Amino acid sequence: MQARQRLPLAQHLYNGACAAARSPLAAAAAPPPALPGGSPLPRRLYGGAAMLRPLRRLSRPPRRAAATGPGRRLLLSTPIFYANGPPHIGHLYSALLADALHRHRRLRGAGPGRLSTGTDEHGLKIQQAAAAAGTSPPELCERVSSLFHQALTHAAVSFTDFTRTSEPRHQRAVRYFWGALRDGGALYKGSYEGWYCTPEECFLPESQLTEHRDAQGRPCKVSLETGHQVHWTKEENYMFRLSAFQDPLRKWLRDNPQAISPHPFYQRVLHWLEEDLPDLSVSRERSRLQWGIPVPSDSTQTIYVWVDALVNYLSVVGYPETHGEWWPAVHHVVGKDILKFHAVYWPALLMAAGLAPPERILVHSHWTVHGQKMSKSLGNVIDPFACIGQYTVDGFRYFLLRQGVPERDCDYYDEKVVKVVNSELADALGGLLNRSTALSINPSNTYPCFSESCFPKVLDYRETKGMGRASAEDYEFVASVASLPLQVANYFEGFQIYKALECIVLCVRQTNSFFQRHRPWKLNRKDPAEQLWLDTIIHVTLECLRVYGTLLQPVIPHTADRLLSRLAVEPEERGLSSLTFLARYNGKSCPFEGRQLGPDTGILFHRLEKSRQPQIETKKL
Ligand code: MSP
Repeated sequence: MQARQRLPLAQHLYNGACAAARSPLAAAAAPPPALPGGSPLPRRLYGGAAMLRPLRRLSRPPRRAAATGPGRRLLLSTPIFYANGPPHIGHLYSALLADALHRHRRLRGAGPGRLSTGTDEHGLKIQQAAAAAGTSPPELCERVSSLFHQALTHAAVSFTDFTRTSEPRHQRAVRYFWGALRDGGALYKGSYEGWYCTPEECFLPESQLTEHRDAQGRPCKVSLETGHQVHWTKEENYMFRLSAFQDPLRKWLRDNPQAISPHPFYQRVLHWLEEDLPDLSVSRERSRLQWGIPVPSDSTQTIYVWVDALVNYLSVVGYPETHGEWWPAVHHVVGKDILKFHAVYWPALLMAAGLAPPERILVHSHWTVHGQKMSKSLGNVIDPFACIGQYTVDGFRYFLLRQGVPERDCDYYDEKVVKVVNSELADALGGLLNRSTALSINPSNTYPCFSESCFPKVLDYRETKGMGRASAEDYEFVASVASLPLQVANYFEGFQIYKALECIVLCVRQTNSFFQRHRPWKLNRKDPAEQLWLDTIIHVTLECLRVYGTLLQPVIPHTADRLLSRLAVEPEERGLSSLTFLARYNGKSCPFEGRQLGPDTGILFHRLEKSRQPQIETKKL
């Protein structure tokens, strides 16, 4: 009865992307139907609209739509990392993708932005890890959380917020969110049983399990995807009426084809939504799980760690008071293993709590090591601290973002880092800067002048004969550099940072060929005509380097800074919205022409040496 009385509130609260859809909870208000007997899925044996006393509400602020247009706000997020073990390169990859997007957006001069990250500290997994390490959960979390904080800081991840789920402000937000679910009629109490996978912190259906043997050789069941053992669990839980959100979720996705990228992941989620979508157990008996947030008004239950963790995206923007300034202008970067939590459970929970789903979910695949999954038991977990120590912050950032392809798993090995970074950063980019600024070639150490007579503007670059000194190939090359900023912006927008880097490298190589082709070191400075052409070659090369330095800032911030400083590009000239290229070719003035170059601080990027030791994690907690 109570659930029915609260339905109008649920309808009123939910005014997000699917507002037009039939109220999901209206259909669900009746006691949930039993699943067919013998179903291999986790079963709800009985249920009912056993609603709790309403939570005393915090004052609800007026809802404010997130700003739209060029000055719009955006919250970018990384997942919050489990505090049960030290960071590895897979974690760092999630964070670097989000960081590069955040930095790129800032350089574009887009509106206010935040980058949130943090640690996921509750749940059975952490409780068991603490016991295994002979410590308490709070102590373990303190230690591990600070390791993540350090690793991200060390890797120059420019996060603005670091949330720990053990913080009071987060816990308060979770309790409030729970109240919104309950008051909206989205929860009921039921008995629940199924196979629980602690490392994944979720129940798994029989179809996702396989037979195996445990360490003692006894038969057991393990998760097909991760190989982790599952345990049969039967208890009284609060259930979330996920099944009622199947149609609204489908509608949300059909109306927002960009909501999940890359596209294969969007299709995967649509496919899940074609299948049975059982209700979700959203609490655990407190007797089994003490390390978590108690269910408001029912101290015998602990809130499910995934509900607790997902709410970090709201607590960081001040839910339930000030989140309206940001929500739902939110982009979540997540690994494919946690896609269902973000693309099915989270939007449904949000709708049930009267909030719109996030604007975008950006999904990436995994790093394997020599073709194998990274795991502690295989002893092949790659340590980001060791990698940064060996390959430098920018070298390692570049490698992960250049070689990581969100659509598919990528394989890590040390030789590949050395090869990619040496060839693209040290040789191609660093070599180009070195050659074009060498005193032997540019004794005045200035940004030289461009000569229109050497490189005249043409309408058709195939007809350049007898016009100046630039060849058709040169015209083609400057045209590709001119289109690079837009290409890069589109690739960032499409969550294909690796493709943006691929295009930049291609242009860097073309610039090296241009330089090589014209052999500026052979030109005679004393001959005024030769001098004009020599200056033009250097001007074009420095213009290219300025574009590359500007575009590379989100990925290799330190190297890009050194490059731009060497070219005397002032901090306020490093934005993407005002990025020009070869203004003189287009008859405009170039503010850099004639400017004294910045100090020579040596080699831009030192070649890497292959380490004798693999970068395996050895930290003890
Ligand atoms: N705590 C949850 C997330 C909660 S967000 C509300 C979690 N934590 S995690 O520490 O296991 O994973 C954090 C991120 O690291 C996820 O995006 C996950 O996909 C990513 N990676 C973990 N292993 C990975 C690889 N081997 N390769 C690439 N990324 C991987 O899940």
